[in-house]
Amino acid sequence: MRKPFLAGNWKMNLDRRSGVALARTLAARSVTWSGREVAIFPAFVYLDEIVRATAGSGVRVGAQNLCDEKSGAFTGEVSAAMLKDVGATLVLCGHSERRHLYGEDDRLVNRKLHAALSQGLDVILCVGETLEERKSGSTEARLSRQMTLGLAGVSAEDLARITIAYEPVWAIGTGVNASPAQAGEAHTYLRGLLSGLYGESAAAAVRIQYGGSVKADNIQTLMRAPNVDGALVGGASLQSESFLGIVEVAL
Ligand code: 13P
Repeated sequence: MRKPFLAGNWKMNLDRRSGVALARTLAARSVTWSGREVAIFPAFVYLDEIVRATAGSGVRVGAQNLCDEKSGAFTGEVSAAMLKDVGATLVLCGHSERRHLYGEDDRLVNRKLHAALSQGLDVILCVGETLEERKSGSTEARLSRQMTLGLAGVSAEDLARITIAYEPVWAIGTGVNASPAQAGEAHTYLRGLLSGLYGESAAAAVRIQYGGSVKADNIQTLMRAPNVDGALVGGASLQSESFLGIVEVAL
């Protein structure tokens, strides 16, 4: 059985005070949670403090991005080893905003993923089609390419440390979530791709989160769709009431 995984991607939001307060609230509530995994993704500069604010709780802390290189002259970048050093245990790779606003391609996403794995970080690999791709019937081709190139060189053993997030670009921050049928169809396709690459039993163990305008009032129906194992939440993860509403109704 796959344990539901609910994650909050804070993006470039919240300051030190509000981020620490939110993290503390979640950490305190986590003693009442069972049967689910929860993670938050603050901005780099607050990771250290948020890790300390959640220490010993059921809230994991991850980074939104990392550098594909190990160390050296890469001004403005942050390495996997640095993330590990401050206590982050996971990292997002290939988020739609990294791909579309900062031009990250599948090969760079793959190098980042390997950099993370090599330091023992778990990874959430984000994939998703644009509205144009959906309209032109190329959703599956896009997902297949992102998965195949994103996971290139990843062993079956390392696959156990990877979560997939299906985030259709048209659903991110728009208030228009994928319908449960659309999410179920895409997630089932993604699991089929994983089966083809790694075999059925390895594929069956991978969590596939849905992301894109997730709220407390749509999480339950989305989670009932086939192969939807949790959510990667943006806007609704920025306040304790709305994120707890998702985390606590999600099962
Ligand atoms: P929203 O929940 O704000 O649509 O963002 C989704 C997302 O991009 C999470 O990574």
